[in-house]
Amino acid sequence: MAVKTPIFITGVTGYIGGAILHRLLTHPNADTFEITVLVRNPEKARILESQFGVKTIVASHAEHDKIEQIVEANHVIFHIADSDDEPLITAILRGLKNRHDKLGDLPILIHTSGTGLLTDNARGEYPTETIYSDLNVEQLKAIPPTAFHRNVDLLVINADAEDGYARTYIVLPSTVYGIAKHPLVDAGISNAHSMQIPKLITTSLVRKRAGVVGKGLALWPSVHIDDIADMYIVLFDAITQRPATTGHGWEGLYFGESGEHRWLDISLAIGQAMHALGLTDDPAPTPFAREELVPLFGSEWFGWYHGTNSRARADRARALGWKAKHSTEDMLASVRPEVEAWAKKQ
Ligand SMILES: NC(=O)c1ccc[n+]([C@@H]2O[C@H](COP(=O)([O-])OP(=O)(O)OC[C@H]3O[C@@H](n4cnc5c(N)ncnc54)[C@H](OP(=O)(O)O)[C@@H]3O)[C@@H](O)[C@H]2O)c1
Repeated sequence: MAVKTPIFITGVTGYIGGAILHRLLTHPNADTFEITVLVRNPEKARILESQFGVKTIVASHAEHDKIEQIVEANHVIFHIADSDDEPLITAILRGLKNRHDKLGDLPILIHTSGTGLLTDNARGEYPTETIYSDLNVEQLKAIPPTAFHRNVDLLVINADAEDGYARTYIVLPSTVYGIAKHPLVDAGISNAHSMQIPKLITTSLVRKRAGVVGKGLALWPSVHIDDIADMYIVLFDAITQRPATTGHGWEGLYFGESGEHRWLDISLAIGQAMHALGLTDDPAPTPFAREELVPLFGSEWFGWYHGTNSRARADRARALGWKAKHSTEDMLASVRPEVEAWAKKQ
């Protein structure tokens, strides 16, 4: 029997990770993969083993020695659970280095960051002119080390570009949207909902009025959950089939976007949906007051985050052949079903 490719994935009970595991299980070469996933819920582990045929490790991200060992045993790592856990990525990188040192293998890490990397402090007051292309390596290198996600991203890049013990790739999704629909969601394993748009919806539902940070004029990109999951697979296929021509290290940052919006446009769509559903008297969004930010978002920083600019173009993935099927219009159309779903959960 041919040796299978050992693949280890974090975050499969999550929104993005679940969509990627589903694609790997239905990949044309799925019978050549030996997939191991890390989950912290033993019941989900049991279902993943019995219904989906993947190996599971029940552990939390704090179990660094265990994670280092699992990583060492795998050739491909999809790290989709956490963009910002520095001790966790350090354990993952130790596992990759051990594998390289012991076997001479050049293991592959596909890490998940986000276009939050590019954010400013606009607080919704203005759109920025600066647009980042992931093909412009000098522009990417100039991002300050203090930027969001940057501490972890630099460790991942340098494992390849400076130390050379692994091939590393970073996917940077923007606002991922759409309610995920696949068998792992149906089985109660994976989260069906994203972060940013649901956060604006749940905060708006609490105040019974759509909210917006400042004037909502700052710009962000978005990408549908199915498109971003496809992008990971296009990248994975390119890495495994055309490694020499697939950018890695500093040439291995892949933005995920298929259109751009003003924050105000999301808030307007939330207001219209809430009004149509009888959840507000007035569809027009109002600015979040500063005093609302901590109770609604958990911190002022996270509140203001929803009024930042982050402008990026997914030129590198498109050059690999990735084609998004959804656009900004689909993102805005996704708001109403999302409002309906969150209103039911209230
Ligand atoms: N969604 C977006 O729009 C977006 C955009 C850009 C970047 N990102 C980044 O992508 C990553 C994944 O996002 P997501 O939307 O898929 O998030 P999610 O649905 O919240 O999934 C997070 C995953 O991480 C797991 N996890 C969290 N803490 C853990 C711990 N201590 N031990 C073990 N497992 C743990 C969760 O497991 P449990 O099920 O057990 O909680 C879940 O599988 C995040 O870092 C996020 O910042 C997301």
